[in-house]
Amino acid sequence: MATGEGLIELCAKQDVPEGGVIRVDSDDLELAVYHIEGQFYVTDNVCTHGPGELSEGYLEGHVIECDFHQGKFDVRDGSVVAPPCIVALKTYKVVPHDSAVVIEAPVD
Ligand code: FES
Repeated sequence: MATGEGLIELCAKQDVPEGGVIRVDSDDLELAVYHIEGQFYVTDNVCTHGPGELSEGYLEGHVIECDFHQGKFDVRDGSVVAPPCIVALKTYKVVPHDSAVVIEAPVD
């Protein structure tokens, strides 16, 4: 759901378990929302290597492992941590909000 002023509200913070990741679809975006040590991070949900969904992967610390071919990304900046992934994952800027996970709308 859009919140205006270039912001998109994705879900309630309480929807994402601590140490977990959920998929959130918003308009044409398919996203993964992570909750790690009280902070929230948002990336594309689909792996850059293939059809794996990162919300179905394994989160350890700040690293998400794709369950398709075990490639890994750092969810903080999308950088590749382990092959076979080569291309970084797209990340989204999370803006402060009391109860919801809100991102800046991507400009393309
Ligand atoms: S689809 Fe994610 S590692 Fe291959």
